[in-house]
Amino acid sequence: MVRNIDGDHDYDERMPTPPWARAAAGANTYDHTAEAVLPTVYERTTAAAMSAGSINLGQGFPDGEGPLWMRAAAAEAITTDAGPTNQYPPGIGLPVFREAVAAHQQTHYGVELDPDRQVLFTTGATEGIAASILSFAEPGSEVVAFEPWYDSYGAMVALAGAELRTVPLEAPDFRPDIVGLRAAVSERTSMILLNSPHNPTGAVFTADEMAEIVTIARQAGAVVMSDEVYEHLTFDVSAHTPVLSIPGSEDVAVAVSSVGKSFSLTGWKVGWVTGSPALVNCVRGVKQFLSFTSAPAYQWATAQGLQDDRGFFAQNQEQLQSAREMVMSGLAAAGLRPHRPAAGYFILADISPVTDKSAADFAAELVEHAGVGAIPVSALTLPSTQQDPGSALNYMLRFAFCKNEPVLERALTRLSSWIR
Ligand SMILES: Cc1ncc(COP(=O)(O)O)c(C=O)c1O
Repeated sequence: MVRNIDGDHDYDERMPTPPWARAAAGANTYDHTAEAVLPTVYERTTAAAMSAGSINLGQGFPDGEGPLWMRAAAAEAITTDAGPTNQYPPGIGLPVFREAVAAHQQTHYGVELDPDRQVLFTTGATEGIAASILSFAEPGSEVVAFEPWYDSYGAMVALAGAELRTVPLEAPDFRPDIVGLRAAVSERTSMILLNSPHNPTGAVFTADEMAEIVTIARQAGAVVMSDEVYEHLTFDVSAHTPVLSIPGSEDVAVAVSSVGKSFSLTGWKVGWVTGSPALVNCVRGVKQFLSFTSAPAYQWATAQGLQDDRGFFAQNQEQLQSAREMVMSGLAAAGLRPHRPAAGYFILADISPVTDKSAADFAAELVEHAGVGAIPVSALTLPSTQQDPGSALNYMLRFAFCKNEPVLERALTRLSSWIR
């Protein structure tokens, strides 16, 4: 199954024209009546949770802080002569940072990168995503993504003047539908957007699936952007396959990742784009006029984490896995139908066993009356999907489990007693 924004190709007529409004509409954050921008769904849920005194299982940030030794390294760089100065670092990133990204890709995945030509620092993965999409999504072309998607993809595709088409990921296991992807891709496709491990489903694409996607992109002459920010949050036996480890990806794919999820330091906004020298050079063309550069101290501290995580990845996975099991049981006990994720921060739960309402309406009730904030998955889908009563994505809520266990326990108790 394949969708575009309106289901019948009059996308441009329905999109507002000013660039700011296109970006907002592309991410479901444009208020058509007020002709104004709404905050993101994550910010709206956080604000609603705060004003109702609810526990916020909406936005994906951990309760805990990242490793103390990384924070101490950043503080040292800011306040002493150790490390970089507090002045502009190079636009492509500090050499020590780019070398650490290259070494990390080699150690974890056997991917060889030239730190001078194949690694580009970005201000968080968000800037890497924006720069990649604005570099390769041709105006008037189509960009294909799996749905639900990370909201910035919709904003940037719309801002680029391209059209987003989606291939739904379906419960219970949310595997990428390769046949559907092949049908969605055409000579009009300029990009394919991947996110593995995937937010919000927690699906980890296999090497075979990644290889199929790369083959489809090559045949279509499309560029792949692979968002890999959850690369170190895989559970059980699931292993992350970076796109650049797939033979044939070299000249068609760029990968995006960041420090935020891997080290529980989401506020640092240190990201990176990797790929062939030619593609990374293209992304630089846009990136250097977005932020140009930022955060020398955080780049320096991130380099230390990437060189040696001192066991943090394994410890973080273990904690998240235990939280995942707790929330899986709690959601099931409350009567919902949760789907066990293979990675990431989130559990998607089908609400239809307990209500006929849409997830958007049910989320509004939960935050107000049950005391728990969650994200309706429909906020991360196209308007055509939101209007489709047959789409299971309209009846799913996303619960973040990257929180302390006592907080999760309280949230689950509240959910259970309110629903029952
Ligand atoms: C799939 C995905 N990509 C990118 C980002 C943004 O990463 P960063 O905070 O490094 O900009 C997030 C954050 O939630 C995400 O979930």
